[in-house]
Amino acid sequence: AEGAALPHDLSGKRVVVTAGGTREPLDPVRYLGNRSSGRQGYALARVAAHRGAEVTLVAAHSADLVEPAGVRMVHVGTADQLRDAVLEASDGANVLVMAAAVADFRPVSHVDHKIKKTDRDPDALELTRNPDILADVIEQRRAGKLDTDVVVGFAAETGDPDTTVLEHGRAKLERKGCDLLVVNTVGDGRAFEVEDNDGWLLAADGAELPIPHGSKSRLAARVWDAVAARLGGNVG
Ligand code: CTP
Ligand code: CA
Repeated sequence: AEGAALPHDLSGKRVVVTAGGTREPLDPVRYLGNRSSGRQGYALARVAAHRGAEVTLVAAHSADLVEPAGVRMVHVGTADQLRDAVLEASDGANVLVMAAAVADFRPVSHVDHKIKKTDRDPDALELTRNPDILADVIEQRRAGKLDTDVVVGFAAETGDPDTTVLEHGRAKLERKGCDLLVVNTVGDGRAFEVEDNDGWLLAADGAELPIPHGSKSRLAARVWDAVAARLGGNVG
């Protein structure tokens, strides 16, 4: 039923969506990861395909989700692999939506044998920065190497004593330089590993739209509404 009244306002548009959480290996059996289930990204891909877009879903580790019909899947593990896949798929794409939870850091080195427990205390884990894929895409667009019309970021935020979730979101939109930023409140069992989501949709032009609590498909529909409006065109 949810698909019945969907507009085909993304017909002819090429969109790239990322989903899930990257995993940064320590050894063949361990990794640094995060709680992203991939549900929001999968919902975005599914809804875009329903609305007529040609969709590539770059999926990092996700829960056992059904692959959306009619969507080209690219599976990746690490942030580096996600970056390569995104840059390749974004070439010629109209829209990029970065819903993936990308690890900010990775172990400096990973070994191809299992790290064994010894009598000694373990070494401290040495980490290094991962590439910021969203920042790289914005940079490449500024340099004229990509002409993606609309780039959407996601931010999962908790408030803290000095700053609200919305204030963190506004600052992140500014810092990231993307066109739209979806801000979700996390913590207390919200957003991660659950079916529902809410938050704000912030735009670089200053527009701020609260997103009421609801399914990740409904949130996806709101995001595509905002994207379609920015893509313009003559679809009513
Ligand atoms: N992102 C990315 N590459 C990274 C980290 C994040 O492309 N290495 C993207 C995410 O997919 C998301 C957006 O950037 O769309 C915001 O991610 P977030 O982790 O909230 O931003 P950070 O700049 O990493 O800030 P924070 O310190 O809050 O983690
Ligand atoms: Ca981060």
